[in-house]
Amino acid sequence: MINDPKLENDFNVLFLGDIIGRSGRECIENGLAPILQEHRIDFVIANGENAAGGFGINSKIAYHFLENGIDCITTGNHIWKNKDILEVLDKEKRILRPANYPAGSPGRGYSIYKRGNKKILVINLLGRLNLLEVDCPFQKANEILEAIDKNSFDISIVDFHAEVTSEKVAMGWFLDGRVSAVIGTHTHVQTADERILYNGTAYITDAGMTGSFNSVIGMEKESIINHFLTRMPKKFQVASGDEKINGVVVSISDQNKARAIYRINHLV
Ligand SMILES: [Fe+2]
Ligand SMILES: [Fe+2]
Repeated sequence: MINDPKLENDFNVLFLGDIIGRSGRECIENGLAPILQEHRIDFVIANGENAAGGFGINSKIAYHFLENGIDCITTGNHIWKNKDILEVLDKEKRILRPANYPAGSPGRGYSIYKRGNKKILVINLLGRLNLLEVDCPFQKANEILEAIDKNSFDISIVDFHAEVTSEKVAMGWFLDGRVSAVIGTHTHVQTADERILYNGTAYITDAGMTGSFNSVIGMEKESIINHFLTRMPKKFQVASGDEKINGVVVSISDQNKARAIYRINHLV
């Protein structure tokens, strides 16, 4: 059910779409707290792969998020951009990189977190269509879910960072009934297809982005248009103005079933 009033005992997860540069960071500083209160949020996951200058994330920004309301940071194809995050990835379990990077990559692709009496498993996966030749995200999801003791978590959320809608929809059905939610990221455009799949998994193709909407997916629009016109290499800058927080809230019942998913599209 969409936009259902939340029940008293629901566990509410807020998932924020890719946070883009300074504009996105200001959205978190100025706009996150009221959302947490209004939607009675228990746990916050945010995709931070564009948080530093529009590409990648660094340790200073990551810890700023973790100290200001975000419980787990997922990432994507820009994870390796800033070198200083590499050391942090190995020791900080609250920052994930896609699990299906080849074995031996720094960091981890999933982890379990505790909030009150709930344990939340978060898995980060990367799509392969029009993106990167990484290990198969479907096989990796299977591998992870088979390796983890089912009693070691109550709630499970997958960030599927991918470009192509068919790959994302397929992942939703593939994991239906096995995880609480499959949430897409990477395109920076929020889709309107949020729903609960037949076996109880909440799904959306893309959560959208947190940052400036006076932009082409977060970056200054003039330089992007110019790049399309001339195909000359350009340095893209993070845009400002018309800042919004995009994401979804997933409400999970006290039987650990996804009961509702609804979109957040909040002007800051
Ligand atoms: Fe992104
Ligand atoms: Fe991405």
